Amino acid sequence: MRVGPARKLTEAMNTDIENLVPQATVQGGPTEALAERLIEALVPALELLTVEFGRRLGLYAALAENDGATAGELAAISRIDARVAREWLEQQATAGFLRVDRPSADPDERRFALPAAHIPVLLVPESPAYAIGAATMLSGTASAFEAVVEAARSGTGVSYGAFGAGVRHGLQQLNRPGFVGELTEWMARLPDVSARLRSGGRILDLGCGTGWSSVALARLFPEATVIGVDLDDASIAEARALAAAEGLAPRLRFEQADATDGEAMAALTGGGAQLVTIFEALHDMNEPQDALDAARRALAADGAILVGDERVADEFGPDGDFLERLNYGFSVLHCLPATMAEGAGVANGTVLRPATLRAWAAGAGLNRVDELDIEHPFWRFYRLDR
Ligand SMILES: C[S@@+](CC[C@H](N)C(=O)[O-])C[C@H]1O[C@@H](n2cnc3c(N)ncnc32)[C@H](O)[C@@H]1O
Repeated sequence: MRVGPARKLTEAMNTDIENLVPQATVQGGPTEALAERLIEALVPALELLTVEFGRRLGLYAALAENDGATAGELAAISRIDARVAREWLEQQATAGFLRVDRPSADPDERRFALPAAHIPVLLVPESPAYAIGAATMLSGTASAFEAVVEAARSGTGVSYGAFGAGVRHGLQQLNRPGFVGELTEWMARLPDVSARLRSGGRILDLGCGTGWSSVALARLFPEATVIGVDLDDASIAEARALAAAEGLAPRLRFEQADATDGEAMAALTGGGAQLVTIFEALHDMNEPQDALDAARRALAADGAILVGDERVADEFGPDGDFLERLNYGFSVLHCLPATMAEGAGVANGTVLRPATLRAWAAGAGLNRVDELDIEHPFWRFYRLDR
């Protein structure tokens, strides 16, 4: 058979690559370790997606409400195919997410239940243990994977909205317990601002997403007015519905706008906000220094800005810890492309180092930046003053 030049080149490259790997490193060495790591990573990744599968189809809720079910019962309650129900139930029990009574019974007779200890993790949105957002975020992030790959070639990014409800709701699920459960503690670190807000005043919540941070602020300061701002129209639509459902409108309202627009932000508060908050959103804005400048322009003279953003290391380094790896993973697959879709600009990505934030603050005329002593598994908190 005639071997074409391209084929010859490929064969030569393969041979070269094989020769580059000393056989001693394959067995028991770093080659085997990496191969094992990649293969093993398939299991938690797949299991996370099966958790989202269960959430989307209401299967966990059905099991909790009915004190367990057989495959046939779950299929009838949830209106899904019985064969699929059986496979999911068996998979979930194998993964340790569900309990099965009499595993040796006929497959259609086996009863599966959600252990009580797993309910807060999967079904209670304001529980500190609520962690199902990890599954929703993964599925939302993966939903735009092909566009993200293509955008790496074009450099045009992929808009936040293109990641759909998966990312929007995954973030909401992950962050809501902190907003509704811990905001009081966070605001205790800004005692002067909190004291003023107890008797009224204005709060601007930039990059508010679906609005839970704004709701928590409105609940904590019942005399204050709160304006949430986000660029994503689907998030703002859901935030408005939330404000109405919580009975907080019109004291709480939401605007679809670009938080980097200084004139617009100053107009929203009349330049008189006591507090501007930016939770896990500054790194997503492609002109973050402009966003801080806009926040400064929206503030009253004695107001302050509270930023919560990723708890990453002070400097880049290889072999990162859990948080570095988590944040870089989301950066490549979601935050960086979403930020780049906002147009030419900084394109910071998820990993917002403290020194970077300080430089942006200084550029925006905010000369004081204090990192606050607030415990949070994922975020650092900063108070910024003029
Ligand atoms: C990671 S989400 C965080 C949402 C919410 N603050 C939370 O903590 O759940 C980042 C948010 O910033 C918003 N965002 C990005 N760029 C923006 C901009 N220039 N102006 C306003 N919002 C922006 C996105 O639409 C998204 O809702």
